Amino acid sequence: MVDRADRMQEAPSGFSRRGFLKGMMVGAGAVSLGSYEAVAQMISGPNARPVRGWGVPEGLVRLSGNEMPIGPSPRAVEAVLENVYSFNRYNRNRDIYTKIAERHGLPVVEWPPNTFTPPGAWVTLGCGSSEVLFAVASAYLRDGTEVVEASPGYAGVFRTAEAYGAKAKWVPLTSDFQQDLDAMKAAIGENTRVVVVTNPGNPTGVLVPPDALKKFVQEVPSDVIVFVDEAYIEFSKNPEDRVGAAPLILDHANVIVARTFSKIMGMAGLGVGYGLAQPDVIDKLHQNKGGRPSMLSTNAAVAGMDDHDYQDRARAVTWAGQEYFASQFDEMGIEYVPSQSSFMLINVKKDADEVVRKLREEYNVMVGNGKRRWEMDTWLRVTSGLQEENEAFMAALRKVLVSS
Ligand SMILES: Cc1ncc(COP(=O)(O)O)c(C=O)c1O
Repeated sequence: MVDRADRMQEAPSGFSRRGFLKGMMVGAGAVSLGSYEAVAQMISGPNARPVRGWGVPEGLVRLSGNEMPIGPSPRAVEAVLENVYSFNRYNRNRDIYTKIAERHGLPVVEWPPNTFTPPGAWVTLGCGSSEVLFAVASAYLRDGTEVVEASPGYAGVFRTAEAYGAKAKWVPLTSDFQQDLDAMKAAIGENTRVVVVTNPGNPTGVLVPPDALKKFVQEVPSDVIVFVDEAYIEFSKNPEDRVGAAPLILDHANVIVARTFSKIMGMAGLGVGYGLAQPDVIDKLHQNKGGRPSMLSTNAAVAGMDDHDYQDRARAVTWAGQEYFASQFDEMGIEYVPSQSSFMLINVKKDADEVVRKLREEYNVMVGNGKRRWEMDTWLRVTSGLQEENEAFMAALRKVLVSS
């Protein structure tokens, strides 16, 4: 018997949803083989094959963590392999501070031998940008202080700040999912030490226009840190938007920018990111960090930074995924937020807990749960994957929405 969801699955595509379902039969343990067989028999053929994502078990469709689906940069892999027999040493790639500073048009400083970091640097490294977020909270947000951030937002700085006894002032997004910079400015009080702008926003994917951010920085009191988290800015459609807030640092001692190698550079599993700021601020961040990225990750980062082909491919796959999702959601009448990031926020108008659970348990598909993370009861956040992963998600979502 062919139900409505099956008919909806006849959308044109190069990838066989039959394969995805067959893949679930092979790859997932959460559902009984019987139900896989039943579903597969409905829409599967003898040549079905499993979805094969990079770096995940066969059959698993992981669109929950905003990871890069195309595998790592070959140049980064090469750099890891070249150094793999020397990780008995504390060696680090000594070009990394210079390359990062040059990339953002910031002053380059000498790194004398036998110093732990280059004195006077405008760059600090982190084990992922998460460590930079941690350092910002540790350095500026202690008992009785306050951080201002949009809600829903990433809230990474706040997670640490809270443990230090700081409070948050959450400023609602506008009705079109923009960070409300005027309201954020107005929310700054005498205890505010940090304002967080995530650009583009997470979970929204909405970009703060460069002019608006510049004006905001000029208007915020100079003793309040403006922390700009640019984890996803390299996915922006307009190359000028990818420049981000780094140039503002030259004139503003209160601006800190964070970037990561986890997203456009495809190195989430290596854990390397960085912060940019004036040297006094960088010194303060250094005093508030515990770790350092490994020698393998710094070598991969230096090599990956120059792999523009990889970054172009990463953007192309991400944008293709977004276009595909948008066309599917339009067809299904599902509300979504147009995104300049690697993920998309969608309103399925059903309980997100239930939809996420069914996608995972019945179809081996993982997506972000807006209810659990942002109290957005009927919203999901889905990362752009490979086309076949995206199609697998869509096929599963259609099924789940009919059955929920
Ligand atoms: C907005 C934002 N900032 C920072 C991070 C931390 O990334 P990482 O520690 O991998 O650099 C993430 C990770 O998903 C993120 O979404």
